[in-house]
Amino acid sequence: MRRAWIVGAVVVVGLGAVIATITMAPKQDTDTEAGLPYWAYPVATHKWPKPDPNETATIPGSDKTLTIREVNNGFGPPDWFPDDHPPMPDIVAHGRKPDVMACGYCHLPNGHGRPENAALAGLPAAYIVEQVREMREGARHSSTAKMGSINAMMRIAKASNDEEIRAAAEYFSGLKMTKWIRVVETDMAPKTDINTHNMLQMVPGDQEPIGDRILEVPEDIERTELRDSHLGFIAYVPKGSIEKGRMLVKSGAGAYPCAACHGPTYHGNGEVPPLAGRSPSYIVRQLTDFKRGTRNGANAAMMRPEVAKMSEDDMLNIAAYLSSLDP
Ligand code: HEC
Ligand code: HEC
Repeated sequence: MRRAWIVGAVVVVGLGAVIATITMAPKQDTDTEAGLPYWAYPVATHKWPKPDPNETATIPGSDKTLTIREVNNGFGPPDWFPDDHPPMPDIVAHGRKPDVMACGYCHLPNGHGRPENAALAGLPAAYIVEQVREMREGARHSSTAKMGSINAMMRIAKASNDEEIRAAAEYFSGLKMTKWIRVVETDMAPKTDINTHNMLQMVPGDQEPIGDRILEVPEDIERTELRDSHLGFIAYVPKGSIEKGRMLVKSGAGAYPCAACHGPTYHGNGEVPPLAGRSPSYIVRQLTDFKRGTRNGANAAMMRPEVAKMSEDDMLNIAAYLSSLDP
């Protein structure tokens, strides 16, 4: 009798372990500091080969041919589609040497940004000015000092002046955010690796359980490396996360409903920023930073009760839902 009980227990525990290994995400090779979700704050563990700067490149739909050196010029980034947007102010197109890299280099000329930075298109101009001021003064910083992309933004904020940021803010604020992220609910996702731009990218061919992660990867890594502003990202999210996120956002995750301040469709309201269709990795970083108090500018106080009881899973679900909405 007792033996049967033990055998039964062993079988149950064994089965549990098998199920756990099936549903749990495999361990990723990452240098992200412990306690932070690595997929929102990715840090590479190994060097990646550098492309030949003299090679030339083209992308579909643009009549330009550029060298890789031109593509990677932080003080004159590629503008493959100049007809997509109004003329860029000098600070967006060229920045100011030696310390203020062109805003368009990371945030792209159309302001749609990438997972390791942020989308600026359609943000309220006054909000942009305020955020950069808070980064300059230290009221807004990240939960980690390990992401090179964020450290670069903080240096730029410190080196830039009000006039430059006002010009950039007017420009990005006037751009329209369009659908840039394709959210896919799944149990199995492509295997990913972290590249030296603090970005996840797919490892071709291999699949693994998604577990409790959002994997935001370029639709086509080669085109993203060329800074193509016509092709965005796929966000693989766990099955059921969008609906869970919708409920949390509607109820307010233990505080006020998000719509109370971010607008009925989460497209922003006055100086409160829009959330719909924005990068889920960026959203999780911000919720984490509000919760840890490293994002602590003048208006961050309004977000503090919202994140007080929010778990990492809640953040994941909220981000899956918000990024799935049309911007
Ligand atoms: C080297 C890359 C890089 C460049 C160049 C850059 N940024 Fe950023 N920016 C970032 C990153 C990374 C973040 C996201 C920080 C985070 O995740 O916490 C960011 C975030 C921002 C935000 C916050 C957006 C939000 O929704 O709150 C603003 C505003 C911003 N940048 C403005 C600018 C302006 C203006 C310029 C040009 C003067 C600029 N950035 C140049 C990397 C860059
Ligand atoms: C009481 C008003 C209020 C409510 C309710 C509120 N927010 Fe916010 N939220 C703000 C303000 C104001 C900011 C800008 C904070 C700053 O300036 O640092 C913000 C910023 C954010 C940001 C960062 C956006 C960016 O571009 O960097 C995210 C993400 C966010 N809120 C998510 C949420 C979610 C999710 C909820 C619901 C669970 C929510 N907010 C509820 C007022 C609110």
